[in-house]
Amino acid sequence: MHDLRKAAEALAAAQRVVVFTGAGISAESGVPTFRDALTGLWERFDAQTLATPQAFEDDPELVWGWYEWRRSLIQRVAPNPGHAAVTTIQNRAPRTVVITQNVDDLHERAGSRDPIHLHGSLFTPRCAGCAHPAEVPAATEPDEGRRLAPPRCAHCFAPIRPGVVWFGEALPEQALETAVQEATACDLLLTVGTSGLVYPAAEIPKVATMFGATVIQVNPQPTPLDATATINLHGPAATILPALTEAAWPLP
Ligand code: APR
Repeated sequence: MHDLRKAAEALAAAQRVVVFTGAGISAESGVPTFRDALTGLWERFDAQTLATPQAFEDDPELVWGWYEWRRSLIQRVAPNPGHAAVTTIQNRAPRTVVITQNVDDLHERAGSRDPIHLHGSLFTPRCAGCAHPAEVPAATEPDEGRRLAPPRCAHCFAPIRPGVVWFGEALPEQALETAVQEATACDLLLTVGTSGLVYPAAEIPKVATMFGATVIQVNPQPTPLDATATINLHGPAATILPALTEAAWPLP
């Protein structure tokens, strides 16, 4: 409990906060993470045949259908108290930026403003040919094994692709640049629910440490960040984050 109080004092005193999130913050909404034992998406599916540009070129129906399955799952769940606590931080700390690796829209639906999506979003499909933004298709039934022909671009007729960053692809330049800038300028970075294994996103908490910020990690499991985080709060985000915000800004 001592660590939670220390973390709450640091959060209440912070002038510029970055909240950096990974799949773990959405886990308690029912959205699978990538690397958790048994349930992780990369434990159950092959990233090489689903999450690379070559995979989409080889089998656009398999890839488009899988991402539409993930999007339909997300449209059926709700943000959890962890997402709500991030919005509380954004409302209470003088200046808070949310940087997420997640491609879901749960931060937005919890009321967080302008999250930076380092790995894109399931809700911003675009043309694989001319990159023109495309309409998000109507919600469909979640059906894990479904193959679906991707829609065609209204401008060049090339297939529409998910608006996410695949393995082997560069991150959106502006998003990464802004995220690094925010990490160098913040005085407190809260990293929640990430295994810290995928670069360059995993650099963000390290940049904050390098520039003297207090780094607080929230994760039920140890990660490579345990060694450099100022405070490690080992527990689930939907429990820890509300406790953290209630301790930082006690209700009157
Ligand atoms: N609360 C907080 N953290 C949790 C919870 C929870 N309830 N449940 C699981 N976690 C933690 C796990 O312990 C793990 O450290 O969330 C982390 C999830 O790690 P990953 O599944 O690797 O997800 P993430 O770190 O977001 O992956 C980064 O990898 O495949 C790419 O593009 C994908 O953005 C993703 C990137």
